[in-house]
Amino acid sequence: MPKTNARFGALPPFPLAEMKAMRRKIEAAGVDVIDLGAGDAPLDPPDVAVERLGETAHLKSHSRYAFQVGLPSFRDAIAAFMQRRFGVTVDPTTEVLPLIGSKDGLAHLPFAYIGTGDAAVIPDPGYQSYLGSVTLAGGEPWLVPLRPQNDFLIPLDELPTDVVDRTRILYLNYPNNPTTAVAPDEYLKEAIRFCAHHDVVLAHDNAYSEFGFDGYRPRSILEFDGAREVAVEFHSLSKTFNMTGWRLGWAVGNAEMIAALTKVKTFMDTGQFMAVQAAGAAALENADAWVPGNIGLFQKRRDCAAAALTSAGFDITVPKATMYLWVPVPGGERSEVFATRALEQEGVIVLPGAALGAGGEGFFRIALTVDGERLEEAARRLGLVVS
Ligand SMILES: Cc1ncc(COP(=O)(O)O)c(C=O)c1O
Repeated sequence: MPKTNARFGALPPFPLAEMKAMRRKIEAAGVDVIDLGAGDAPLDPPDVAVERLGETAHLKSHSRYAFQVGLPSFRDAIAAFMQRRFGVTVDPTTEVLPLIGSKDGLAHLPFAYIGTGDAAVIPDPGYQSYLGSVTLAGGEPWLVPLRPQNDFLIPLDELPTDVVDRTRILYLNYPNNPTTAVAPDEYLKEAIRFCAHHDVVLAHDNAYSEFGFDGYRPRSILEFDGAREVAVEFHSLSKTFNMTGWRLGWAVGNAEMIAALTKVKTFMDTGQFMAVQAAGAAALENADAWVPGNIGLFQKRRDCAAAALTSAGFDITVPKATMYLWVPVPGGERSEVFATRALEQEGVIVLPGAALGAGGEGFFRIALTVDGERLEEAARRLGLVVS
């Protein structure tokens, strides 16, 4: 049997990849499972997106390869959204790139910028695509623990000089999965200065840009001076519009970085189905009317989960953003052990913090993927796991 290579061998398992199979097994044994694992809520996407898909799916023009150019009206809808939502003006042709989900862009970026011996600074815990793709590209993932005492920010001024000298990409993700932290404007400005000074690509993962609560509106990195020289930002329709399975997102920012990512992708894929892009355009055009209701629903769920988990004895920080709660594991138990007991004893799936990197140890993540009543039931059961 041919051997896989060393880079492949260095990959950890992707979190939750096996969770669906495990859930089926436990359900088959008659357990009423509450799944708070993946950030994938079973909620309806916007009607306008479904309708636009139906209207355009039969078009012969849309059945052809999209290539990286994609559907011009999707690019225009992205540019218009960036303008309306963040006040950022971008050229839809040179500063925007449609993606097959934001993961597509986050994972392909290192193939343009990372060479042997180069490093990428990566938040730990974090979305595992950064780590996996930097590893496959032959780079060194430099993992920086996100700690409560640093407000879950990467302390850029504490990075070792020899690492900074080798760093080609800095991955940031605010609002953050899984810690739910948000970045103050000052921090984003500091990150831009850091990247400009050290000639580093600032890859800002903004998959949760619309998931702000109590009036909090996350920023785009491109709102800040100098960002366009150093940054590329990744957006997703997955969470905002309940469209995870549609696989649609975009990259926006520095034109040279967009061109580099485009070139990598020409060797990897041939673009998303144009009817899906047309549906994405419809969702974006209708965002102002539709998104607040969806985020309001998650805010209610957040309130419900936070109150119920607090009553059950957990130490809860109420998140300002994202669709998660990041909860300290009580009693110093390892997160994997707690999560396994939660599933086996009480049928509740949570994500152990350590599954998202060693820096996540000591915490577990719950996703607000079920309604308030089920969240209360899950909290009650998790309380039983502790006692
Ligand atoms: C932080 C973060 N970035 C990116 C993604 C990828 O989203 P998608 O590829 O569905 O756009 C996710 C999905 O969970 C995420 O949590």
